[in-house]
Amino acid sequence: MTQLKVPLRHYLQFTDLSTDEYAYILDRSKILKHKFKAYETWHPLHDRTLAMIFEKNSTRTRLSFEAGMFQLGGHAVYLNTRDTQLGRGEPVEDAAQVISRMTDIIMVRTFGQDILERFAANSRVPVINGLTNEFHPCQVLADIFTFHELRGDIAGKVVTWVGDANNMAYTWLQAARILNFQFHFSGPSSYPLDMSRISEAEAQHLKVFDNPVDACMGAHLVTTDVWTSMGFEKENQERLKAFADWIVDEQKMSVAQPDALFMHCLPAHRGEEVSSGVIDGPQSVVWEEAENRLHVQKALMEFLLCGQFN
Ligand code: CP
Ligand code: NVA
Repeated sequence: MTQLKVPLRHYLQFTDLSTDEYAYILDRSKILKHKFKAYETWHPLHDRTLAMIFEKNSTRTRLSFEAGMFQLGGHAVYLNTRDTQLGRGEPVEDAAQVISRMTDIIMVRTFGQDILERFAANSRVPVINGLTNEFHPCQVLADIFTFHELRGDIAGKVVTWVGDANNMAYTWLQAARILNFQFHFSGPSSYPLDMSRISEAEAQHLKVFDNPVDACMGAHLVTTDVWTSMGFEKENQERLKAFADWIVDEQKMSVAQPDALFMHCLPAHRGEEVSSGVIDGPQSVVWEEAENRLHVQKALMEFLLCGQFN
């Protein structure tokens, strides 16, 4: 039986952990990464099962959760909408009741955040957001760990987002408040941030720029993402036109700090949101960033199921 001592916690948005808990998770990610590289066996989740529910496509999220659970001594089960009863209209509340009686932890990739919240409200075990239309906290956690490894503490630094006001952008802004850095945002005026989703405390960490070059000035990290997220495919042609000036290219990187990093959660479209020169260039850390999904999610699952190891 799981959860004997650890109180039930979910990870539905970046705000679900405190600044101190992030400090612990970042330290722990480093330790687990070291164990992985050293082929050291570490099975705190022996006999535990992770259910992974996908209502949208994935490469990195599926692989990093599945491999991560295996490396921690547990087992992962992949479920998707196409061949489960979820795809035939079984209520998400009922699915959560059932799945959480057979497994120890659940990752969900779905559309609206409300679906994830309804799922979590009916789950007896921790639920992790594997991406919703609104947020992608595991990815931003991996990105911050990557920054931490390569450049140290992110507090006081400037992170610039060039492109769509999407799930990644809003998650970065939540992280800016919790980890105390500045978030510069620039996107076309026809696709603005929805200020009603941004708290006063978050707004203090946000600066919006009309011109993406201005947004990149002095940045320690420049990051972007696809212009059309999953679920918005019908808008693709219109978005290609609207976002054309928001490509992260060499000119924009040249005004950032000389040692600025470039990140992209992937998959990427070279020649759209990022030039080949940047994503395949010396400032890009996209492969380290992708790998780090594995390490931070192992730390997160271990934390949610076992609490802190001192
Ligand atoms: N970055 C990310 O979440 O990738 P996948 O869609 O491949 O999982
Ligand atoms: N914003 C993108 C991220 C993909 C990992 C999407 O939601 O499709």
